[in-house]
Amino acid sequence: MVLKLATPTPTTPTRRCSLIFLLSVLFLVSLLYSLSFRFTSQSPDQAPPLVRTAPCNYSEGKWVRDRRAIKPRYDQSCKEIYKGWNCIANAKSNGQDLLRWRWQPSGCDLPLADPISFLERYRNTNIGFVGDSLNRNMYLSLVCMLRRESSEVRKWRPAGADRGLTFMRYNLTVAYHRTFLLVHYGSWSATSNGGALESLGYKQGYRIDVDMPDPKWTEAPKFHHILVLNTGHWWWAPSKFDPIQSPMLFFQNGTPVIPPLTPPLGMELALKHMLMYIENLVGPEKLLFFRTQSPRHFEGGEWNAGGSCRREQPLSIEQVYWILWTPCTSNTKLKWNSKVVIS
Ligand SMILES: *[C@@H]1O[C@H](CO)[C@@H](O)[C@H](O)[C@H]1NC(C)=O
Ligand SMILES: *[C@@H]1O[C@H](CO)[C@@H](O)[C@H](O)[C@H]1NC(C)=O
Repeated sequence: MVLKLATPTPTTPTRRCSLIFLLSVLFLVSLLYSLSFRFTSQSPDQAPPLVRTAPCNYSEGKWVRDRRAIKPRYDQSCKEIYKGWNCIANAKSNGQDLLRWRWQPSGCDLPLADPISFLERYRNTNIGFVGDSLNRNMYLSLVCMLRRESSEVRKWRPAGADRGLTFMRYNLTVAYHRTFLLVHYGSWSATSNGGALESLGYKQGYRIDVDMPDPKWTEAPKFHHILVLNTGHWWWAPSKFDPIQSPMLFFQNGTPVIPPLTPPLGMELALKHMLMYIENLVGPEKLLFFRTQSPRHFEGGEWNAGGSCRREQPLSIEQVYWILWTPCTSNTKLKWNSKVVIS
């Protein structure tokens, strides 16, 4: 599908864009650098690292105003950007201003991503983004950046993917698999046979199979060499699954988990199962990144219910802590053969 960026239809919410896109763009830089570092440490015979600075923890740092005169890696003309998310094409008042933020790690400087070195380095590679709109933004950002340097692409979709394309000169495929919880879910209602949930008084809700990957990405670990997974906790919060009207009901091995789990614990269990799923399918060597959190697209309501995306600054550290820990009572600790990077 080709998006006509400059001619939004009146029925489309044209300002469906937010700082989240910028944050994703900027964060991608650190992702790319991590990728290059990891590949370097694994394959010394490959091309030299993109940049030579001491490794540091990119998760520790802050957003700062970028005073450097740097040309953006791509602009609003990139056809991959969804019409409603194109802040600049939609004339968002602070659209240009949003580009002037960069992530500053505490222990080092983050070099700019270099698309050409990236293309060279990931020749004959498949990279899959698996997750919600945060990962979709990551996908778009990477693709827009690379298309500037290598416009010869073939659009196609690997099994289960929403979008994907191959950079023909490099045989590099990048795809996006859309999934919210990573695991399979669907609506559930009580039956008259009287199961464990019925006897606890549940009438309806969502059945969430913590050990079944969403079919959108079941095949992805076999196809992709690098997976970037995410599931934001917003999908695990009362705003998406009302705990009274439509509670999340967790199932394992096809039967309800009793006593029922709270969403944060259900998420923890689902993540553990999904990592095991990948490990069992393709072994522990698959390069995996796991991303957890982003601001919401809209604040103060959904796009059709009075919400706005006029955020002008990245979330403060206090806001991040509030988002991360308020709805989630348990601290998800995921360490998986140190192959998982939590950012
Ligand atoms: C990097 O920093 C984050 C945030 O402070 C921390 O949670 C994580 O454990 C650190 N990672 C390493 C490898 O030290
Ligand atoms: C393209 O890359 C895939 C791996 O992603 C590899 O199997 C295939 O042989 C490559 N094709 C060419 C022509 O090098």
